[in-house]
Amino acid sequence: MIFSKTLLPLFLLLVPHASKAATVRRSNNTDIKWGPCKLNTTLPVQCAQLPVPLDYTDKTRSDTLNLDLIKYPARKQPKRGSILLNFGGPGQDGLESMLAYAELMGPTTGGYHDLISWDPRGTGKTLRFSCWPDDTTGYYAAMGNSLAGSADSTVGKLWAEGSIIATRCHDQQKETGQFVGMAFVARDMMSIVDALNEDGMLRYWGISGGTTLGATVVAMFPDRVERVVLDGVMNAHEYYNSFGEPEMVASTDATWEEFMRGCIATPNNCALAKNRTYDELEAVMTELFDTVRNNPPVFNGTVVFSYDLFKAHIFSTLYSPSDWPGLAQALEDVLQGNLETFVSRVLAFSIPSQDQAILGIRCGDKKLRTNKLSDLEPVFEQYRKTSKWFWDWAWGYDVTPCAQWGFEAKERYEGDFQVKTKNPVLFVSNSFDPVTPLASAKNMSSGFEGSVLLTHNGHGHLSLTQPSNCTNSIIQNYFLEGKLPAPGTVCEPNFPLFDPAASM
Ligand SMILES: *[C@@H]1O[C@H](CO)[C@@H](O)[C@H](O)[C@H]1NC(C)=O
Ligand SMILES: *[C@@H]1O[C@H](CO)[C@@H](O)[C@H](O)[C@H]1NC(C)=O
Ligand SMILES: *[C@@H]1O[C@H](CO)[C@@H](O)[C@H](O)[C@H]1NC(C)=O
Ligand SMILES: *[C@@H]1O[C@H](CO)[C@@H](O)[C@H](O)[C@H]1NC(C)=O
Ligand SMILES: *[C@@H]1O[C@H](CO)[C@@H](O)[C@H](O)[C@H]1NC(C)=O
Ligand SMILES: *[C@@H]1O[C@H](CO)[C@@H](O)[C@H](O)[C@H]1NC(C)=O
Repeated sequence: MIFSKTLLPLFLLLVPHASKAATVRRSNNTDIKWGPCKLNTTLPVQCAQLPVPLDYTDKTRSDTLNLDLIKYPARKQPKRGSILLNFGGPGQDGLESMLAYAELMGPTTGGYHDLISWDPRGTGKTLRFSCWPDDTTGYYAAMGNSLAGSADSTVGKLWAEGSIIATRCHDQQKETGQFVGMAFVARDMMSIVDALNEDGMLRYWGISGGTTLGATVVAMFPDRVERVVLDGVMNAHEYYNSFGEPEMVASTDATWEEFMRGCIATPNNCALAKNRTYDELEAVMTELFDTVRNNPPVFNGTVVFSYDLFKAHIFSTLYSPSDWPGLAQALEDVLQGNLETFVSRVLAFSIPSQDQAILGIRCGDKKLRTNKLSDLEPVFEQYRKTSKWFWDWAWGYDVTPCAQWGFEAKERYEGDFQVKTKNPVLFVSNSFDPVTPLASAKNMSSGFEGSVLLTHNGHGHLSLTQPSNCTNSIIQNYFLEGKLPAPGTVCEPNFPLFDPAASM
């Protein structure tokens, strides 16, 4: 998944269009030796290691890196070629995530393919990017956890915190931090494809941040594309070329408004509905946001009910519509003066361990640097214009450290994502995704000749979160038969919002 901030939390491209393409090394065609995994799981997964070049751009270096791989074997015969999976972030590990996603994604592919993932560089034990080794509290202390909108002084504070993080990460990671960018991960993917000794073609399903990785590997290796599904699409132009990624929040307001609309439409399963109209609920929420910001209540006599945590938690929950009735109950309790439900939910939300990997990959991949906060003003304004309710959720967290980052990815995709691929790519986007909007999917799809964008008329982050048999069968037909849906196809989710059956 794309990072979820919690609290403490070209024209016709025939040649690979990356900076040092001509001099790249390739890994040897090794057979992969699969064996048991050292993971706590009952799934029938197997694991392996694959040596790949540490530095694809430097022929004189012979050092290699062992990638940790995981395979969830095909359930059906005859077996087809493997599908690689990446779960986003960028910075989400592959092995643990496979355990969480295999039984969700496996059936959707049809079951004839081995599913394969790996810990991308920067994650797991592979050049794990960590500026406060063995100490997440140091990192969370440094980043302060304030939202830019919490007070006028916060923007400067976030800039200063960003400089602490950037300096610390440079000191800790200057030896290997340059090797963790997406272009190298894309080359690792092709090393895996080669080592599988199948047909040498890429089959891939990338979700969330895995779509930017997907766009990158496809743009670098367009003639090796067999099937690529990109679901929950990020704007890869912004990822590489902008100080921030304001388009990320282009559908966040609409998703939040859908939360309120769905609530009013389903009063039996939404504690906030009461006898309110939509306009009344919106007014109540506007007032609540203002109160928590300007005159916050105190929890259990000891803790300020923080605006930053309040908003970050609501934002995070917009990812998962099945949890919307729970959020509605917690908000209604807050309105009644009972903060316990909401606070317990925030405390139960686990801190993602990969936040530092996200920064390491993202910041090295970004092109722009500055030492003046004022240079960020245009992108700051862009965030404010893009989302009235949630503009300040994303601004600051990665924008300020990345702008002051001390090193560059050794290789960066420098093209314009105008690509003609050997086989067409399938894009999938929710109508209401709080963090990867339909606008970004349209943008990316427009550059990939012959690609089709399937609109999943659902809510939350990724099509998987409000499932649809229609969407799933289109993805399956694509992987099995190479069939694309007609342009403009829209799929409905199986259950409407706030349907009690949807949370089972
Ligand atoms: C590939 O094989 C050559 C010769 O056996 C060896 O020198 C080189 O280190 C290998 N490269 C990788 C990436 O394993
Ligand atoms: C392994 O997973 C089970 C089920 O999730 C859990 O109850 C158990 O505590 C885990 N064991 C270890 C060693 O983490
Ligand atoms: C809704 O309004 C009706 C009529 O005013 C009232 O009897 C009922 O108690 C209200 N229901 C709720 C949940 O507030
Ligand atoms: C808040 O206080 C109540 C009553 O003292 C206690 O039961 C509860 O565990 C406290 N909640 C938290 C999250 O600390
Ligand atoms: C895609 O997004 C980038 C970055 O915002 C923008 O420069 C470009 O014009 C967009 N392309 C299309 C076709 O919308
Ligand atoms: C979706 O597919 C499942 C499994 O085939 C089926 O039980 C269910 O009724 C379908 N739901 C809808 C809304 O079509």
